[in-house]
Amino acid sequence: MSALTSNVIGLPLDRTDGPLKTTGGARYAAEFRLPELCHAVMVLSTIPRGRITSLDTTRAERAPGVLLVLSHRNAPTLPEHGRAAFKPPAGRAMSLLQDDDVHYNRQPIAVVVADTIEHAVAGAALVDARYAPQAPVLDFERAREQAYKPKEAAQKRPDVGWGDMDAGQRAAEVKVDATYTTPMQNHNPIEPHATIAHWQGDHLTLHDSTQYVSGVRETVSKTLGISADNVRVISPFVGGGFGCKGSAWSHVTLAAMCARQVQRPVKLVVDRQQMFGPVGGRPQTSQHVALGARRDGSLTFVHHDVVSSTSDFEDFVEPSAVVSRMMYACPNGSTTHRLVKLNTGTPTFQRAPGEATGNFALEVAMDELAAAARIDPLELRLRNYAEKEADTGKPFSSKHLRECYAQAAERFGWKHRSAAPRSMLDAGRLVGWGVATASYPAHRMAASARAALQPDGSLLVQSGSQDIGTGTYTVMTQVAAETLGVAPAHVRFELGDTTLPHAPVSGGSMSAASVAPAVQAACRQLRDRVIAQAIADPQSPLHGLPADRVMIDDGWLLARDQPNRREALAALAGRLANPIDATAEAKPGNESQRYALHSFGAVFAEVRVDPDLGEIRVPRIVATYDFGRALNAKTARSQLQGGIVWGVSFALLEDSILDQRNGRIVNANLAEYHVPVNADIQTIDVTFVDDPDLAFNPLGVRGIGEIGITGVAGALSNAVYHATGRRIRDLPITLDKLL
Ligand code: MOS
Repeated sequence: MSALTSNVIGLPLDRTDGPLKTTGGARYAAEFRLPELCHAVMVLSTIPRGRITSLDTTRAERAPGVLLVLSHRNAPTLPEHGRAAFKPPAGRAMSLLQDDDVHYNRQPIAVVVADTIEHAVAGAALVDARYAPQAPVLDFERAREQAYKPKEAAQKRPDVGWGDMDAGQRAAEVKVDATYTTPMQNHNPIEPHATIAHWQGDHLTLHDSTQYVSGVRETVSKTLGISADNVRVISPFVGGGFGCKGSAWSHVTLAAMCARQVQRPVKLVVDRQQMFGPVGGRPQTSQHVALGARRDGSLTFVHHDVVSSTSDFEDFVEPSAVVSRMMYACPNGSTTHRLVKLNTGTPTFQRAPGEATGNFALEVAMDELAAAARIDPLELRLRNYAEKEADTGKPFSSKHLRECYAQAAERFGWKHRSAAPRSMLDAGRLVGWGVATASYPAHRMAASARAALQPDGSLLVQSGSQDIGTGTYTVMTQVAAETLGVAPAHVRFELGDTTLPHAPVSGGSMSAASVAPAVQAACRQLRDRVIAQAIADPQSPLHGLPADRVMIDDGWLLARDQPNRREALAALAGRLANPIDATAEAKPGNESQRYALHSFGAVFAEVRVDPDLGEIRVPRIVATYDFGRALNAKTARSQLQGGIVWGVSFALLEDSILDQRNGRIVNANLAEYHVPVNADIQTIDVTFVDDPDLAFNPLGVRGIGEIGITGVAGALSNAVYHATGRRIRDLPITLDKLL
C-alpha cells in the first residue's frame, strides 16, 4: 500500500495563507479593530544633535480631537531611564521621551494621540520645538579618525586572526589591496512598523508587526517595569520583515505608554518617511581587503578590516569581515571591526547583516586577484575551495558548493566567456559576465510546539513563531502533515502569539531550522499517543495490535500488514473523552562545536552597459544554492529570487543620502530611494542541490532567508568590470560612476 502523506515535506505547495492574503482576510497589526481605538502620531526632531530648550504643546493640546501630547515634559519616568531592556544585540537603546537630549534627526520627541488619524496628524504639526543645537558628527570619512574597537557582538569577536600574516605576505607572489564602501540603506517592507496597544487593567495586549513576538514582550515588559505575564503580543501576519522588525523600537513602547495614559487602545503606525529615522537600517561601511596568492592562485593571506557607522548612543556592529574567516582555504588571516559614531539613529540588522556587505568586498577582491593572476574567476575560487573553516579549522557539517559552481556555470554558459574586459559586445552594448560565491551561516535556537488531534480528526499545531512573508505557515503545515500522517489540508498551523509555545526570533535565517524540529517532535509524540489510544480502545479495529504494527497515513490509522484493518482518525477522535495533544521542545546539540555550519551558493550575473551613458541592465542572474533540505521547493525558490532582487537593488540602486548639514536622510521616500521595479528584473534562474544537512538538525534544513542577497552585488560588480574594464568599489554602481 502506498503511503500518501509520507512525502509532503519538500513539495512545492501553494502558501496555505495565500487565499487569506489575496482576499484581504489576513489581519495585519494596524487592521485590528478595537472599540474606542484612537490614533497616535510621533513628532520627530528636526535637528541631529542638541537639546530641546522649549516644547510648546498648547496649540496641539487644544486642537480638535487631541487627547494627549506626550513628551519629555509629562512622560512617566521609566525604570533605568527607559533602558531596563537595553541588552545588545537586539535590545535597543530607545528614544522614550525620558529627557531633552537629541541624538539624531527624526528622533521621536513627542507623541500626539487623537480620536482620528487626521486629528492626530494635524495635532502633531502644531507641536513647536525649539532647540539648542550642537555640532553634529555626520561625515563618516572624517569621523574615522575616532574609530574605536567595539565589544564582542553576538558571539562574534571583532578581531580574529589565524596563522602567520608575515609568512603569508612573504609567500605571496600576487597581491591585491583595495578599499570597498557600501552606503547606509533603509528598510522598506511593504507594511511599515505598526502597533496597537490595549490595556485591560494591568494587562497589556500588543498587536505588533514583528519578527519576534516573545522579544517584544520581553522588551516592553522590562522597559515599563511590569511582569512579562501581563503582556501578550499578537502578530499573525507580517507584511515583510528583513531585520528591522527583529527589535522592538521606540514606537512600540510609546504606543503602550500613550494607551495607559488615555485609557483607550492606541494605534501607532510608523509612516514611510519615519522608516528613515528611528527604526534602524544598514550602516555605512568602509572595508579594506588585501589578498595574497601564489602564481597558481592559492591564497597565502587574507586581510579584511571593516569600519562601520553606528549611533552616538549605542554600538551596532556590521560583522562584514566574518565572511573572510570561512569562505576560502587560506592559512593566514587577519580580520578586524571598528565603529564610527554618527548622529544618526542606531543601525540594525538588514537582510544578511555583515554577510551582504562583507561578501561584496571579498568577492570583488577575489575578482581583482583573478585578473592580477590571470586566472579565470571561477577557477580561482575552485583552487581555494575550503573543506574547513579557515579561522577555527572546523569541518563543514555539509557542503556542496562545488556542485553549485558546476551547475550554475553550466546553466549560465560560463565556458563561453572571453576573459578580457570589453571583449564581449552585443547590439552596441558592452556585455559583462561575473561570478561570486554566496554564503550565510546556519543558525538554530531552541523552539517549542504543540500538536493536538481535533474532534473532527484534523490536526492543530501551534508555535509562537512568526511568518514574515517567508512561508512559515506553509512549511510547518507540511512538516506536521507528513509526521502525523494527515493531508496538509487537514492541518491548521497557528503562530504569532506569545500565548503559544515559545519560538525564537524570525531572524538570522533560523525559523525553519529551529521550529520545524519542534513541530516534528510534537507531532511524533502525538502520533505515538494516538496509536497507543487506538490499540487500547476495544472499539477500534486496531485494538490489541503492537504499536509498531500500526501506522497513520492520509488521515487513517491502519495495520501495517493488513491495510483493510483501519479506521479514520476522525472516528477515533470522535470517541475521545479527553483530547490528545503533545508539546515538545527541540534544541541544538553540540554540533556547532564540532562543525562549521554554513549554506553556500554560486551566483553568475550578466550585465549590459551602454558605453555612452553608463546605463546598466541585468538581463539574467543564474544561481545554485546548497542550503540543506528544502521544506517547500516553491517558497524556497521565491525566497531566493526575492533575495537576488534585493541584491540587484543593493548593487545598483539603494543609497540613503545623509544631508551633511542637518543629518536628515534626504531621499526618505520610495520615489527617491530607489529599488528595482518589475522592468528592472529579467531572468532569475534559481536551482538548488537539496541534500539534507542531518548533522545540523533532524530535518536537515538550514536557513534560506538571507543567503539570496549575498553574492549578487559581487557578481554584478565583477560583471560591470568585465563589461567596461572599470572597477567600481563604491556601491551603488550608478551610471555617473561609469562615465
Ligand atoms: Mo535578518 S537581518 O536576521 O531579519
